Amino acid sequence: MAQQQKIRKAVFPVAGLGTRFLPATKAVPKEMLTVVDKPVIQYVVDEAAEAGIEHFVFVTGRGKGVIEDYFDIQYELEQMLRERNKNAELTLLAGLLPKAGTASFTRQQVPLGLGHAVWCARDIVGNEPFAVLLPDMIMSADKGCLKGMVDLYAQTGGNVLAVQECDPEQAHKYGIVGVGEAVGEGFKITQMVEKPAKGTAPSNLYINGRYILQPEIFKILETQERGAGNEIQLTDGMLALANSQEFAAYPFKGDTFDCGAKDGFILANLAFALQRADIRPAIEGPMKALIASLK
Ligand code: G1P
Repeated sequence: MAQQQKIRKAVFPVAGLGTRFLPATKAVPKEMLTVVDKPVIQYVVDEAAEAGIEHFVFVTGRGKGVIEDYFDIQYELEQMLRERNKNAELTLLAGLLPKAGTASFTRQQVPLGLGHAVWCARDIVGNEPFAVLLPDMIMSADKGCLKGMVDLYAQTGGNVLAVQECDPEQAHKYGIVGVGEAVGEGFKITQMVEKPAKGTAPSNLYINGRYILQPEIFKILETQERGAGNEIQLTDGMLALANSQEFAAYPFKGDTFDCGAKDGFILANLAFALQRADIRPAIEGPMKALIASLK
């Protein structure tokens, strides 16, 4: 089997306005809202690190500066923690800090869509395959979604998208793939449609926000016309790339929470809190009582 080029870099498109989450997102980026005690973006970065990603590329926008601050040291805070011998807190912060020089930030100046946001990372990514992780989607599984994709990519090469089943009634909200022959733990993708009209989706498998892409996508995105929602769509760029390259799908088995929407965000908080040995005992009983008391 051919040795595949390692996936070293991941792109996080964090320029989105978060309009589904107003008023919270008027002054706080949606990626900084907390699930239990960590910002949403930290879960996504952790998933990338688990998959072997070495360089984290954030495509930000106006009002998102706090994301850059979050991935830096906070000198005054850390000095104060040292003076007070708060060693556990210092260790926690140190463990989350990216190594110097491994986080890059660039801005998407105009909100022209996901395809355009990814294109904005082209100079930092350069000529190598890379991952894209949509920061709204956070995942819970024994094996991280991107890690599973990297393992499949070692067999298939080319481009790999993670997919999951959705309610067919909801298919028009997503990018949907067509299912071809099996490869490894996944299958070849025969079709991709961004936000198919009701009743026209080729399957109920939606692209859940994790991608491994070859760098040729950048050239395509440069001239990509606007598509669904009058935005430059990544899915349309991938369709064009599929004329000359293979696309495989990795069916992700875990749970995905859409933290850009209120219901997904609240469910993520409940699910991750219940996984925590230090929190579960205090909330499990009251949660059950709350549900039992529902009228
Ligand atoms: C984007 C992608 C879509 C994917 C979805 C997952 O859509 O374009 O293919 O299924 O993310 O959340 P958006 O949510 O930006 O409309």
